[in-house]
Amino acid sequence: MKDKLNAVKSAAIEKIQSAASTAELNELRVQYLGKKSELQGLLKQMGGLSPEERPVMGQLVNSARAKIENVLEKAIADIKNKEREIALQKEKIDVTMNGKAAPIGSRHPLSLVTEEVENIFLGMGFQIATGPEVELDYYNFEALNIPKGHPARDSQDTFYISENVVLRSQTSPVQIRVMEETPPPIRIISPGRVYRSDAVDATHSPLFHQIEGLVVDKGMTMADLKGILLEFAKRLYGEDTRIRLRPHHFPFTEPSAEIDVSCFACKGEGCPICKGEGWIEILGAGMVHPRVLKNGGIDPDVYSGFAFGVGVERLAMFKYAVDDMRLFYENDVRFLNQF
Ligand code: DAH
Repeated sequence: MKDKLNAVKSAAIEKIQSAASTAELNELRVQYLGKKSELQGLLKQMGGLSPEERPVMGQLVNSARAKIENVLEKAIADIKNKEREIALQKEKIDVTMNGKAAPIGSRHPLSLVTEEVENIFLGMGFQIATGPEVELDYYNFEALNIPKGHPARDSQDTFYISENVVLRSQTSPVQIRVMEETPPPIRIISPGRVYRSDAVDATHSPLFHQIEGLVVDKGMTMADLKGILLEFAKRLYGEDTRIRLRPHHFPFTEPSAEIDVSCFACKGEGCPICKGEGWIEILGAGMVHPRVLKNGGIDPDVYSGFAFGVGVERLAMFKYAVDDMRLFYENDVRFLNQF
């Protein structure tokens, strides 16, 4: 029995010491120390020994067991170290390797133009105001003198969220929100997204951008409107830019005008950009309708004001000679990299 025990012990130790992985060692643990191991079998055979031999043999089995456990634990620790070493070797970072350059992006042309317009008006003492894109019908239409059933609603194909809630179809509702909260003098511009249920083509998109302007003070006239917008046009397109006002109609201004700038490409001679006109329409504007002032909580007998609205895409298309609006939204880096 003793010989058998020694044989088992040395076999176990030898196998453990030549094992190459923790998985193998775990198998050996089951084989040599588990319930069905040979050692366990030897213990069971001890019933056949004499009472004097039994404790001696028991001790021998236990010490063999302890020895095997010892060797096993040490082997496991060694292998774990080795495995970690190998993993670290594999993960080694070569700090001398060439890095990958992260391409530097550029500002989006619509952001550039918006910022340029903002800076021009900030320089003239305007402040920037914002309003919600999900807007009440009241602010988007009603308070701007466009009641339900008014034909002007048809020209702005509006996304309705419910009967009284829309995706704003223009930035003009910000006028009312600002007037409600601010006593005159008011001088704000309000850039932002607007939505119309238009099919996508070279000049239409269901989402586009406008910048609204509003000035309210005592004694404001059409001359103030013209002066501010001429200054704006000069700063945007150059000192030699001229503007002209054409009579137009907007429900929220009276009188209303569309404003053209002299073509910055041909200086008014007529060219493909201005379609031979010499002029390019860039703005809608007018004197704020007295009813709109009243809706904003402002007394039209004391105050007057003017307002204007400009499409950012349109400005950007002219400024950068982009002939298809869709390019602004496709995020093709070959296009965006040019700005
Ligand atoms: N909201 C108009 C539009 O979307 C643009 C506009 C025209 C705004 C005249 C104004 C304005 O404030 O006075 O077509």
